[in-house]
Amino acid sequence: MDLRSCMAAMFDLGLAVRIDDPIDWDVEVGAVMRYANEHGSPAQWFTNMKDAMKGATLLGGLFATYERIAVIMGLSRKTSYHELVDFCSEHFARRIKPVIVEDGPCQQNVMLGDNIDLLKFPVPKLHPQDGGRYIGTLNVGVCQDPDSGWVNWGTYRSMVHDRRTAGLWLGALNHGGMIFRKYRERGKPMEYAQFYGGDPLCNIVAASGIPYGVPEVEVVGGIRGEPVKLVKCKTVDLYVPADAEIVMEGTIDPNELRDEGPFGEYPGYVISGVVKRPVFRLSAVTYRDDPILPATCLGIPTDDEIPFGLYLAATLKEQLRSKGIPVAQVAVPVDSGWHAVVVSMHKAPYAGIPQQIASTVWTDRVGLYFPYVIVVDDDIDPANINQVFHAMFTKCNPVRGIHIYPGYMNSPLTPYLPKSPWKELGFGAGNCLLDCTWPLDWDREDIPERVAFDTMYPQHMREKVLANVKKWGL
Ligand SMILES: Cc1cc2nc3c(=O)[nH]c(=O)nc-3n(C[C@H](O)[C@H](O)[C@H](O)COP(=O)(O)O)c2cc1C
Repeated sequence: MDLRSCMAAMFDLGLAVRIDDPIDWDVEVGAVMRYANEHGSPAQWFTNMKDAMKGATLLGGLFATYERIAVIMGLSRKTSYHELVDFCSEHFARRIKPVIVEDGPCQQNVMLGDNIDLLKFPVPKLHPQDGGRYIGTLNVGVCQDPDSGWVNWGTYRSMVHDRRTAGLWLGALNHGGMIFRKYRERGKPMEYAQFYGGDPLCNIVAASGIPYGVPEVEVVGGIRGEPVKLVKCKTVDLYVPADAEIVMEGTIDPNELRDEGPFGEYPGYVISGVVKRPVFRLSAVTYRDDPILPATCLGIPTDDEIPFGLYLAATLKEQLRSKGIPVAQVAVPVDSGWHAVVVSMHKAPYAGIPQQIASTVWTDRVGLYFPYVIVVDDDIDPANINQVFHAMFTKCNPVRGIHIYPGYMNSPLTPYLPKSPWKELGFGAGNCLLDCTWPLDWDREDIPERVAFDTMYPQHMREKVLANVKKWGL
């Protein structure tokens, strides 16, 4: 699958629409994309973007619903949340090495040196307050660890400074940021490539928090069941998928920093101010004929951050089970703005299990970004936000069930972090466990029965009701 065959599948299923009306890259396209995200609309293919070169188009919201994620993973659109999590558990563990090919469509067109002009692409300014036009919201950044030679992929936002340079945010705790730090310590520029398109699984895997030393390209191959075809970049010693739509190549000099931001971000606020960040200087841009630039307009739920939570849920479930914790299901609800993980557990064999769950989440490389852990009994589906909300306010005793853990590091994008020199490093708040399970020291008869159609009534009665709901107009 490449981006184009994926789009064809989406159009066939009615999960994408084509918008031929002229649309301005200057905020207007963000308004359309934001509306679409907030209303669960199909993905949007903008074919008539103001100022873009002929044939260049923009694709919004490809990853913004679980239905579309399921199709990208080669599954039925009806696949449930927990089935997606289990698919990730099984398939992200597979590895197939990539193959190198001589050439690929991603190099059908080449801009070199002074001929580079990023603004020929439909680069959007997505939110009115953004510091500039963001070319990189659904990109995959490629860099190489100078010690081990391991090649890392990750998604790092990038704002166009001018036709040949872009600002990057390589998060300090992400592998991209750690690798860049090694170049900085050596005083050497880092070669970097950023690609758009190719198999959409590349985006999902790149943003999922794959462990250090595992080549994301092999994970993509493993999930798809066939190797990713890679082609060598024109001006740097890095490889990118041959069927990518657009590739930016160049270097990042550790001594050069420039203002980047603000940007409307995933928690649902314009939360990151103007910060001096690394600069990506381009030596080449290559692209397919009629290139498609994928983008996401982040904000209040939902948006294209969805895949990030699936792999986290899958790895947490495995980690918890491997510790013998009787976990039923794990979900990362989009409605929390990526601030909560919900775990359901079977009856506890001993005390302190919710605390064990919370500490497992907060010691996970990706889980540490989630300040709230909500633990519920196994009669609650963690992926059903209404059930979770009900459990939070009917089972969580404010005196015994809320546990505050100050001092933990949070994402620097956590909206309520107090103003301080440490804000950029995520200090100033902490974490919270909401224990929404019945107390372990209660006897069976102390536990009130849940009043719900699915759980209270005998099966034959429920079957009769279900058989008649249409007839009775219910
Ligand atoms: C749409 C989107 C935008 C993201 N933007 C950034 C970013 O600007 N900087 C960053 O460090 N991580 C960003 N992330 C998260 C990283 O891509 C993610 O943590 C990934 O696992 C990093 O890979 P790495 O640890 O191999 O570097 C973004 C994720 C998504 C889905």
